[in-house]
Amino acid sequence: MKTIVCKRYGPPEVLVIEDREKPIIKDHQVLIQVHATSVTPMDYRARGAKMPLWPFTRVMTGIRRPKQDILGIEVAGEIVEVGNEVTEFKKGDRIFGLADKSYAEYVVARGTKGATITTMPPNLSYEEGAAIPVGGLTSLYFLKTLGNIQVGQKVLINGASGGVGVYAVQLAKYFGAEVTGVCSTKNLDLVKSLGADRVIDYTENDFTKENEEYDIVFDAVGKSSFSKCKKILCEEGIYLSTVPSYRLLFQMLWTSKVGKKKAKFGLGGGPDELQFIRELLINNEIRVVIDRTYPFEQIVDAHAYADKGHKVGSLVVTLNQGKVTQ
Ligand SMILES: NC(=O)c1ccc[n+]([C@@H]2O[C@H](COP(=O)([O-])OP(=O)(O)OC[C@H]3O[C@@H](n4cnc5c(N)ncnc54)[C@H](OP(=O)(O)O)[C@@H]3O)[C@@H](O)[C@H]2O)c1
Repeated sequence: MKTIVCKRYGPPEVLVIEDREKPIIKDHQVLIQVHATSVTPMDYRARGAKMPLWPFTRVMTGIRRPKQDILGIEVAGEIVEVGNEVTEFKKGDRIFGLADKSYAEYVVARGTKGATITTMPPNLSYEEGAAIPVGGLTSLYFLKTLGNIQVGQKVLINGASGGVGVYAVQLAKYFGAEVTGVCSTKNLDLVKSLGADRVIDYTENDFTKENEEYDIVFDAVGKSSFSKCKKILCEEGIYLSTVPSYRLLFQMLWTSKVGKKKAKFGLGGGPDELQFIRELLINNEIRVVIDRTYPFEQIVDAHAYADKGHKVGSLVVTLNQGKVTQ
């Protein structure tokens, strides 16, 4: 099967297409024919060896070269094989979700309880399906589980135009918050169209220096800090960041014991969040934002674009469009 392989850390050109053996599933797994995957920060940071929390993460991912040489985490495609224990899925199901090593024609995923894939809503394309999981699940986990978002709260989303931010704005609105989105000039209209009540252009104004106070500041791109945001948090306000640093982890520990304002980081979003997002999609409560779509063969261009750090919503990578190969 066609596979995008990353055998060394470096620029987008380290990604090459190779022929690999089709994976063999276990009893609790399904085999998915991938129709669309994506370029998330996990992919371009892992490829470029730019993971946060250096050197800890480098030890985990491989010191000299990547331990896992197939990237990709988001997937939309069709189930072509099911293991003996799988009852929730059947051959031919159109699914979307999270599956490790999705930069390939076929990928394996858990098909039993705890699966991070689910059947696609009928109104969703494969491209859209691959543009949702990381941003949708992460935003939901941060706002609901870590932030305990409530109706009427004032919520600021920094990085409102990114892969995580576009869902964070929509979900915060869905939960009844008054939402302020922070983005650059070119994305102001998009962020307003996603439901933000107010937008701040970060190229013109520094939101941390304004006189507004927020119940939640969700830094979806990790470009600010708890120290800077502390003064714009309400008395019991929460600062959430998707990007860890040793300083943030210390502040998280410290604020869990001392003071009313909290700093939080987490890694989360699983089966429950996926089902919740699926329902919202079915009911047209949230929409998908795709910046660009690249064919599988142009993965180098896709990563080069993502590396610039200005993608809007998701970058999708397609393969096997409409073609069923077994
Ligand atoms: N903890 C977790 O579980 C988890 C899960 C998913 C992602 N993450 C992390 O979350 C981060 C964001 O992911 P993403 O997919 O949203 O990234 P992304 O889409 O690649 O981020 C690009 C977006 O960030 C905006 N941006 C860049 N600089 C900014 C600034 N100074 N202020 C405000 N916006 C700015 C850009 O807008 P402009 O073009 O206007 O600058 C662009 O729209 C990544 O670092 C990723 O590793 C963590």
